[in-house]
Amino acid sequence: MQKRHSIFGGENATTRANPGMASLELNTEEPASIAAVTKKLSAQLPTLNVLINSAGIMQIDDAADAIDDGLLVSTVTTNLLGPIRLTSALIDHLKQQESAVIIYNSSVLAYVPLALAAVYSSTKAALHSYTLSQRYKLKNTSVSVLEIAPPWVQTDLLGSNNEPRAMPLAEFIEETIRVLGTDAQEVLVERAKPLRNNPGPNEGAFVTEFNDLMVQAPAQQQPSSGTPLELTTNDFVERQK
Ligand SMILES: NC(=O)c1ccc[n+]([C@@H]2O[C@H](COP(=O)([O-])OP(=O)(O)OC[C@H]3O[C@@H](n4cnc5c(N)ncnc54)[C@H](OP(=O)(O)O)[C@@H]3O)[C@@H](O)[C@H]2O)c1
Repeated sequence: MQKRHSIFGGENATTRANPGMASLELNTEEPASIAAVTKKLSAQLPTLNVLINSAGIMQIDDAADAIDDGLLVSTVTTNLLGPIRLTSALIDHLKQQESAVIIYNSSVLAYVPLALAAVYSSTKAALHSYTLSQRYKLKNTSVSVLEIAPPWVQTDLLGSNNEPRAMPLAEFIEETIRVLGTDAQEVLVERAKPLRNNPGPNEGAFVTEFNDLMVQAPAQQQPSSGTPLELTTNDFVERQK
């Protein structure tokens, strides 16, 4: 399976719409693809100093039953191994820069797992953990490590483009760019904060309440695509107030 992930060099709809931008094709599930692309990047962009690990997939599973092995392997490979491998392949290059940044795109589901996407949620929790370790190990270098933990946002993920309860993409980008301009190591939009702040000794109660809400969501509140919910962010944030 060929995946396209715009970085540098080729042409696609995004690069055509943004003069000056270029792309390379990358499949983050494939170590050989990561090796080939990062080799080209290091050679052709000697001052490359930003890596944003954003590629991710989300599939519905059932942790009360046997997990499909294909779902398990593809989700863990794309969401966890991919960012670690991609970063590993570029880390020496980034350390040579006067200033560099590595960004990981996790999710609020790293902090409040969605039971109907248990594997996905666990990969995001693992990515958060890796971010903390790497930030510690790089603390005396020129490389900063940031984590973006989005709430439910209107994108193609689970067909959420027209989902009214998800945050409009333009608003999410605008607020995220604003927070990226601060010293925050965890880049959080306001509506992500109640979920990010949940972990602690009593986190189970909040996780139960959240998932009960997911299960109880009335049929008319289901996304038009019929896909299950990632987050009823607005309802949930309202309840936390
Ligand atoms: N939308 C949300 O509500 C939400 C919330 C929290 C976190 N996130 C995270 O945000 C990130 C971006 O997701 P999104 O919302 O923008 O979803 P999206 O619209 O489905 O985009 C996912 C992107 O990942 C790329 N991708 C998937 N597998 C890949 C692979 N093996 N190699 C290279 N690229 C691959 C896809 O490329 P192709 O189109 O070529 O497959 C696509 O560009 C993900 O990590 C997701 O978990 C999203």
